Amino acid sequence: MATAAASNAPAASFTRGLEGVVAGETEICSVEQGALIYRGYEIHDLAQHATFEDVAFLLLVGHRASKDELRFFKDELIANRALPNQVVEYLRAAGPMLKDGTAVPMDVLRTAVSILGNMDKDAQKIDAEANLRKAKRLTAKIPTVIGHMQNIIDGRDLVGQETGGDANLSHAGNLYYMMTGKKPSAQYERTIDVSLILYAEHDYNASTFASRVIAGTLSDMHGAVTGAIAALKGPLHGGANEAAMDMLSEIRRDIGPANDKAKIEAWMHKAFAEKRKLMGFGHRVYKNGDHRAPILHGLGRKIAEAQGAEQVALFEMGEIVQAQMLREKNIHPNVDFPCGMTYFVMGIPVPQYTPIFVASRITGWAAHVMEQHANNRLIRPVSVYTGPALKKWKDA
Ligand code: CMC
Repeated sequence: MATAAASNAPAASFTRGLEGVVAGETEICSVEQGALIYRGYEIHDLAQHATFEDVAFLLLVGHRASKDELRFFKDELIANRALPNQVVEYLRAAGPMLKDGTAVPMDVLRTAVSILGNMDKDAQKIDAEANLRKAKRLTAKIPTVIGHMQNIIDGRDLVGQETGGDANLSHAGNLYYMMTGKKPSAQYERTIDVSLILYAEHDYNASTFASRVIAGTLSDMHGAVTGAIAALKGPLHGGANEAAMDMLSEIRRDIGPANDKAKIEAWMHKAFAEKRKLMGFGHRVYKNGDHRAPILHGLGRKIAEAQGAEQVALFEMGEIVQAQMLREKNIHPNVDFPCGMTYFVMGIPVPQYTPIFVASRITGWAAHVMEQHANNRLIRPVSVYTGPALKKWKDA
């Protein structure tokens, strides 16, 4: 807790970064050291027994889908996968910027979602039914935006431009297919599926809070999601999955091809001395470990083991880094650390890791926007003024 600095400031206190501040209520998710729960279901249970479509329905609609509800929901997602031509045209126009690095995929995805809002017939409506329709359309279309973007970057014809992909593939499998033009193996499909389950929701994290602040002004779903994407991009939040992999690549470049433990530890000591934030480590809520990280680490490592020594070496390097962080800093990896390694061994391009996070978290954001609209009060905190004392404009 810090207190007001200015002498005539009101007696007020605040917590930097709102740490520990309870900013609202939610029925959607509980993030605690003991468990991560989506609407009553614990994350290990969901990761083992559910699919992303099950979880998306649970988050968006509020209860576990019946067989018929699930079938209908999946059909709705499949039917809504294709993009309007105007969005495809925009993605093509963004190609040169993506290729020269002026824009990164998160920026282009953010703009594409905003354009989708311009074209959605329910755009200005914020009633529960319209919000749910928009949430489903966004959930269906975001993987197509990601896929087309990657096709454009790779110089490939757009996969599934008319259909949004292969109707026989799951949401996770189709995302991979749209990006690569290749059907995923069962192991790849399930690993992406679980990563989407793990990323889907996390209560009042920064991007979700941003989406609720926007929705709290009675602004619309696409606007709230556009703002949430901007918040997720940052490396302290969702951008950490890309940043974690970039960091591991940097270590590999610096130490050479072999996992020399002494060299890795020396690299880490230098990072500690420079007070560097190591990406994919630490969490505002979880101080004894992130429930999601070991689940994804296990799945990613299995893929690496099936592929060979080079991929296993990446995980082994990650494990040395993890062990040292815990031993010397008492800081655990968060979900973004194994995510970076897992997507890497699957051949997914690093700049698409955070957009894939969006393809999942859209469900959590949309659920929160709907919850906010259903029981709204403007979110408007106050600040402690620390600027200059009062002076006269006329005398200056
Ligand atoms: N590397 C090095 N030191 C760290 C790290 C880290 N990743 N995380 C925390 N610390 C240290 C920090 O320097 C501070 O030390 P000191 O008290 O000596 O100044 C102490 O631990 C407390 O850290 P903090 O920054 O006050 O903690 P916070 O709750 O404000 O930040 C965090 C949480 C996630 C922003 C931070 O841990 C971080 O920057 N991690 C790296 C980025 C990252 O992986 N983000 C993903 C977050 S989880 C999933 C998601 O949202 O995608």
